[in-house]
This record gives sequence, structure tokens and C-alpha cells, in this order.
Amino acid sequence: MYKAAVIGCGRIGFEFDFDAKRDFIASHVGAYVNSKMIELSAVCDKDSKKVKRCADSAQVPAYLDAEDMLVAEEPHIVSICTPPDSHLELVRLAVKHGVKGIFCEKPISESVRDAREMITLCKKNEVILQIGFQRRFCRAHYGIKRQIDDGLLGEPLNATGIYTSGILNSGSHMLDLLLLYFNTPKMLRGYSSKKLSHKPGDANYDVFLRYRDDFVCSLHACDSNDYQMFELDMLFTKGRIRIVECGLSMELYAIADSERYSTYKEPRLYNIIQTDLSKDFMVRAVNHLANCVATGHESISNGISALKGLKLVKWIVYSAEHNREVVL
Ligand SMILES: NC(=O)c1ccc[n+]([C@@H]2O[C@H](COP(=O)([O-])OP(=O)(O)OC[C@H]3O[C@@H](n4cnc5c(N)ncnc54)[C@H](O)[C@@H]3O)[C@@H](O)[C@H]2O)c1
Repeated sequence: MYKAAVIGCGRIGFEFDFDAKRDFIASHVGAYVNSKMIELSAVCDKDSKKVKRCADSAQVPAYLDAEDMLVAEEPHIVSICTPPDSHLELVRLAVKHGVKGIFCEKPISESVRDAREMITLCKKNEVILQIGFQRRFCRAHYGIKRQIDDGLLGEPLNATGIYTSGILNSGSHMLDLLLLYFNTPKMLRGYSSKKLSHKPGDANYDVFLRYRDDFVCSLHACDSNDYQMFELDMLFTKGRIRIVECGLSMELYAIADSERYSTYKEPRLYNIIQTDLSKDFMVRAVNHLANCVATGHESISNGISALKGLKLVKWIVYSAEHNREVVL
């Protein structure tokens, strides 16, 4: 049994599980408490009220200082659930105190240089670094990836995504999904969006990505004050997949003769599946990390893939600011 500790008892660290409408485990603390491979040993937050509430609920010791906790508890695994500008400093601390696995929330960092240092430090010290892009822990998304890789959907033609709340904050989830499915685009162009992100320092951008001459993707930002949205519509020569409800469900279409017009073919909806994102993805994520620590294998959501996504974010901002496309 591995021992884990959580730094940051805010929303993703702990509080999401108090949302009465979420009927699944969505926090790191909840995931460790429900894991059969890992035991939660302590939690830390510099906010005394937050850490007390979390520690009382999980019935583990509370710490106000991360280093004090690492020294006293000697956890094998540490979750970093603090804002991105603190991730590097906390990774340094965790590595210094001999942890074997780090589950760091997305985005890996705000800066490419910090992200590189986090990856190098973990590699040098044989620490598994896992980043919290949760769709990578969802079997349904991997199922789609397998279908794409095996050619079952034919060739990709177009993709259209909609996101809210900042290109780094939520846009990075979208870019990570596109990296998982289609790897890095050949060219991109970013445009500043008038739709407000409400994340200080993290604006919204509309984005055009070209993967091949005949396969392009466009991403559109929305204002979260209007409503939340995270959707991706992908057209292939042999089918269409629409990821809707923030990834909680997927519409599957086959290409069939039109029932309305002679000679035309159309995508026809044949199934709507509820993805396992709504179930135990967070528990699966921490168990995956424990398995990686045991075997030395890279996580399926690792620092390198997160760095690729962060670089795309930086190029999108650069492209919009310089009013030019970027060849990758
Ligand atoms: N994967 C997802 O879908 C998802 C969802 C929400 C947030 N996140 C990510 O999780 C991270 C945290 O976001 P949040 O919304 O939970 O933030 P939050 O503000 O709700 O919580 C962060 C907590 O960290 C604490 N903290 C900050 N620095 C600390 C330090 N050095 N030591 C101890 N505690 C410290 C704060 O006091 C706060 O309680 C961000 O990187 C964010 O992007 C990911």
C-alpha cells in the first residue's frame, strides 16, 4: 500500500466532492480515500480553514506547510493541487523529500522553462510525473483513439471544438485531447477572442490548426458567463464523433445513404454513450500512478505530453499577438 499526501485542499484537491450535483469522485482526496492501492496519510493547505475542513473530513493530519508534511509523513505519492505558478516549487520540494510519484494538476505550469525543469528533475530522480488531464484516464476516449489509430473511422476530415474559461485553463484540456487523438498539428493560427475567459491572465483565443492539407480543426472560445461548454465534433470519411456534455457523453454517427435525398450520403446518429468520465476516472488516475510507480512505466498523462500542450498554448498566444501563422 502506497502512502499519499495532498497539497492544496481547494476545488480539485478536495472541494469538488462537496458539489451535491456531482455524483462521482472528482477530487484527489476523494480518489485516494477510495483507492485500494493507496492510503491518504495527510493533507496540506496554507489556508488553515480549508485544511482543517479537509483533514477533518478525511480523518488525516493537517499541515499548513508542504515541507513540514513531507518531512513528517514521508509519502510515496504527492498530489499538487495548487495554482500553476506554484507547481515547479512544489515538485522541487517533493523530489527533494524522496517521493516516488507526483500527481500534478494541469496545466503543468505557466512557463515552458518551468515545465522542462519539472520533467528533467523527475526523470533524473526516477520520479513518475503525472499531469491531471482526466480525459486520458477515460476508457471511452482511449476507445476513440484506438478506432482512429486502427483506421476504423477512415481518414479525419475536420474537427470543431468549443471551450470556455481561458486557453491555458480549459483550452489546454481541448489541446490535450487533440494531441491524444491526432498528435501535433503542422501549423496553427491564434486569434484573440472577444469572449471573456474570467481567468485573470488567461484570455480566450479562437484557433485554427492544420494537421494535413486536407485535415483542419478550429476551436472557438465561449464566455463562461453565458454557459459552460466543452465539445468536440470530429468528421471522418467513415464516421463522425461528437463529444458533448464536457466529455460525459459521446454521439456516434455512421456514414449512410441519406433518407431525405437521393444520391447523398449523410452522417447518421446510431448511438449515444455515457463515457466513464462520469464514474471513477479520478480513482483510476491515482491507481494508474501507483502502477507506474511500481513498474517504472511512464504515465499515460505525463509531463512530456503536457509540455507539448503548453507549447501549443504559447504558440497560439504568440500567433495572435504577432498576427501571423506558426509552422510547427
Ligand atoms: N483537471 C481539472 O479538471 C481541474 C479542475 C480544476 C482545477 N484544476 C487545476 O488544479 C489546480 C488548482 O485549482 P483549484 O481550482 O483547485 O484552485 P483552488 O484555489 O480552489 O485551490 C488551490 C488551493 O491551494 C492552496 N495553496 C496554494 N499554494 C499553496 C502552497 N504553496 N502550499 C499549500 N497550499 C497552497 C490554496 O490555499 C488553495 O486552497 C490548478 O492548476 C487548476 O488548473 C484542474
